[in-house]
Amino acid sequence: MRHLLTPQDFTTEELNTLFDLADDIGKHPDTYSHAMEGKKLATLFYEPSTRTRLSIETAMLNLGGRTMGFADAQSSSAAKGETVADTIRVISCFADIAAIRHPKEGAAMVAARYSSIPVINAGDGGHQHPTQTLTDMLTIRSLKGRLDNYVIGLCGDLKFGRTVHSLISAMSRYENIRFVFISPPELRVPDYVTDALNDLGIPYEEVTRLEDALDRLDFLYMTRVQKERFFNEEDYVRLKDYYILDRNKLSLAKSDMYILHPLPRVNEIAPEVDDDPRAAYFRQVKYGVYVRMALILTLMDPASLNA
Ligand code: CP
Repeated sequence: MRHLLTPQDFTTEELNTLFDLADDIGKHPDTYSHAMEGKKLATLFYEPSTRTRLSIETAMLNLGGRTMGFADAQSSSAAKGETVADTIRVISCFADIAAIRHPKEGAAMVAARYSSIPVINAGDGGHQHPTQTLTDMLTIRSLKGRLDNYVIGLCGDLKFGRTVHSLISAMSRYENIRFVFISPPELRVPDYVTDALNDLGIPYEEVTRLEDALDRLDFLYMTRVQKERFFNEEDYVRLKDYYILDRNKLSLAKSDMYILHPLPRVNEIAPEVDDDPRAAYFRQVKYGVYVRMALILTLMDPASLNA
């Protein structure tokens, strides 16, 4: 049985197979519309979500399967004190595959340990968000045709942004990737991430001003400041509008630089940027459904990775 807890759970070859499948799903969706008939997906969301939960559910529905679950811990028996370990053992009796989002780092790993069905990590605290990373990578590959040889800028809350940590870790495995980390000093990328880059010899620089990075980026990955992970409101209010990408700033960027964002957006990208052809964040959402369809098919039949 395979789970998806971090992007590292798949080799680069397996990721290529997954992305090829996602491409084919995007081109020929009808071919896959009965592939999960009779199967059930459970979504266990202990934290708010719009995209990830509905994208995973849409993926299962597009494959002809059915979905069940909860979108709020308070409406589940977690409110009575049930542990993730017990909940997943129960859900394993109901469903064929499960996706879990939880505020605690490592919750998906605990779920996988006690599960008898494949588990998808849909975000664990400030740690990882691997299905968003698969979405980001499929978007990059679809827009440019490859996953290597880029300067990738990541901007905003690099401390708490789990999508950032997952994307850095996943893209580090490709040739000639350089990172530019753009954040206020308080929201720097964690040391464990930069330590890993140092160990791998992957170049990165850290800057505080977006204007100092824009002209050399192939992709700019914007993120919101993660209000829910702050310990006090005052710090959040001080930092929340630190970066606002507008048309004026975007004029400093290359004409073929793409802007990505995992969404939800708060203030960090001005709506006037949405019409710029380089704004790819709503296209990203569509790729998210294709790649999650490919992921469900793959976890339900892991042998397909070696076919
Ligand atoms: N990108 C993302 O995780 O969005 P949601 O929080 O809406 O799922």
